[in-house]
Amino acid sequence: MTTTAFSRRQILAGAATLAGATGTALSGLSAFGTTSSPATVRTAKIPYGAAVRADALASDSAYRQAIIDNCQMIVAEGEMKWPVIHPARGEYSFEKADAIAAFARQNGMTVRGHTLAWYGAMPTWTESISSRGEAERELVGHIETLVPRYRDVIPSWDVVNEPLIDDPADARSLRPSIWTRQLGADYLPIALRATAAADPKARLVVNEYDIEFKGSRYAAKRRALLQLLRTLRDRDVPLHAVGLQAHLFADRDIDRDGLQAFLAEVVALRLDVLVTELDVVDFTLPGPVEQRDALVAKTARDFLETVCAVVRPKAIVTWGLSDRYTWVPIYFTRRDGMPNRPLPMDAGLQRKPLFDVIDDIRQRFA
Ligand code: G3I
Repeated sequence: MTTTAFSRRQILAGAATLAGATGTALSGLSAFGTTSSPATVRTAKIPYGAAVRADALASDSAYRQAIIDNCQMIVAEGEMKWPVIHPARGEYSFEKADAIAAFARQNGMTVRGHTLAWYGAMPTWTESISSRGEAERELVGHIETLVPRYRDVIPSWDVVNEPLIDDPADARSLRPSIWTRQLGADYLPIALRATAAADPKARLVVNEYDIEFKGSRYAAKRRALLQLLRTLRDRDVPLHAVGLQAHLFADRDIDRDGLQAFLAEVVALRLDVLVTELDVVDFTLPGPVEQRDALVAKTARDFLETVCAVVRPKAIVTWGLSDRYTWVPIYFTRRDGMPNRPLPMDAGLQRKPLFDVIDDIRQRFA
């Protein structure tokens, strides 16, 4: 299987080189292929964005201004997830998602769509989905409702979020969900094809976490994810990119060799890479804020430099802009009672060293 996959990759890479040299389109070659710009036309910095909360955008004008001042793109932290946007069977609630889309339009930003097929954050009504046909109808119907609605402002969707269990044996180690229960592994191609049909221009992303660390369970995740991507490609399923969530931990080492080998394979599959949810969990770090901020920044630098040495990410998105609004304390409260500081700006909207690292990387790898 490895041999077959490799030879096909070589063929695709060869075809891409040929097409680049002659200006010929690779029509019909594969729905899987991507069309990256040639290095010579790259002048802009890597685009930066942050996850936002609709309520905070509406109520907190300083936060809203900080988002306007710093972001080229935003992503809804929860407002496009099923429980908020599709709270009951046949019932959609677009108010908060629409507010985020309108904010982006008004300020010349794009939105990353997050997320269409995920095991987590599902409304209770979906537990009553009880057959394959019903699951496919609900999943496709959801995608057909959301994707065209935001077509003008969402160029990139996290179609599949977190498909794999922790410490997977292989690509079949999918996280149990309503989708796997009724559709098995077919839920991925079903979701990806439905999104491509709903917006043929959308960039389709499989988004995953725990890809970057040292240790056997993280190596297992990288192996299984690659296998999953190859399986999708072999079935000619439309897909354009891998999202590295990058919820980093300042006390976990980045596996430079492992991550770079993984990314080289992703590039060989002609997939783009995005950093989609960067933050640095700091709950075990020493108290003094300067020391903590420096360790957070160093962790992000190690990660981003490792990635950019192999591939220029299409975007760097942090999971929030300011420590004022972050998911981290929900799971990783500090024992000393001090607030977490995982994001580029502090709770007072002052820039932190992490922001300088992101700016530096965006500039250096422009
Ligand atoms: O809105 C209610 C509020 O009314 C209530 O008072 C409060 C009490 O806890 O809960 C609020 O809802 C919470 C919501 O975040 C709003 O912040 C939910 O309980 C909580 O489960 C929800 O968590 C979100 C989580 O995904 C699940 O959807 C986090 O904010 C969000 O940051 C997190 O994001 C995920 C990505 O989607 C996927 N990758 C990992 C990432 C971090 O866990």
